[in-house]
Amino acid sequence: MIFPIVLYGDPILKKKATAIEKGNDAIKEFVESMFETMYEAQGVGLAAPQVGHSIRLFVTDTAPMEEEGVNGLKKAFINPTMLEESGEEWTFEEGCLSIPGVRADVNRKTKIRLKYFDENWEEHEEIFDGKKARVIQHEYDHIEGKLFTDYLSSFKKRLIKGKLADISKGKTDVGYCVKVPK
Ligand code: NI
Repeated sequence: MIFPIVLYGDPILKKKATAIEKGNDAIKEFVESMFETMYEAQGVGLAAPQVGHSIRLFVTDTAPMEEEGVNGLKKAFINPTMLEESGEEWTFEEGCLSIPGVRADVNRKTKIRLKYFDENWEEHEEIFDGKKARVIQHEYDHIEGKLFTDYLSSFKKRLIKGKLADISKGKTDVGYCVKVPK
């Protein structure tokens, strides 16, 4: 099932998401739908709040970034915990399916250590770095109620203010199904 993607301005994107009950079986089907929705929108990551569910889950598939030397990271992350972020900060231009047409440089640390469950409720602890870490950090922020635009300077924020206002009114031209904030 393909879900509509919630646009910037919806309060769910600013809310800290809640943990999923361990062992919940319905999560497998939900994960399938998350992947379907992400592929339809041609994203490399999608978090549950972006489809209207304030729960701690996100999916990634970095296959479209292969040309940039990133090999595929196709995974579902359930109830993840960021254990550590380390290394130098580096700049990378980020975008978001909930904020179509807006891209901006964001600084984040290079390396992360993350604990999470997969869709079979198996627990993992893994280290990710570079662009893979970047995608995960961006999605992890979503379940903490944070958006990449929160990191921008007040100058840059002022520059995109009009665009954000348009998006929140549904004045945006995207090739996927969206939900306009009330
Ligand atoms: Ni995003």
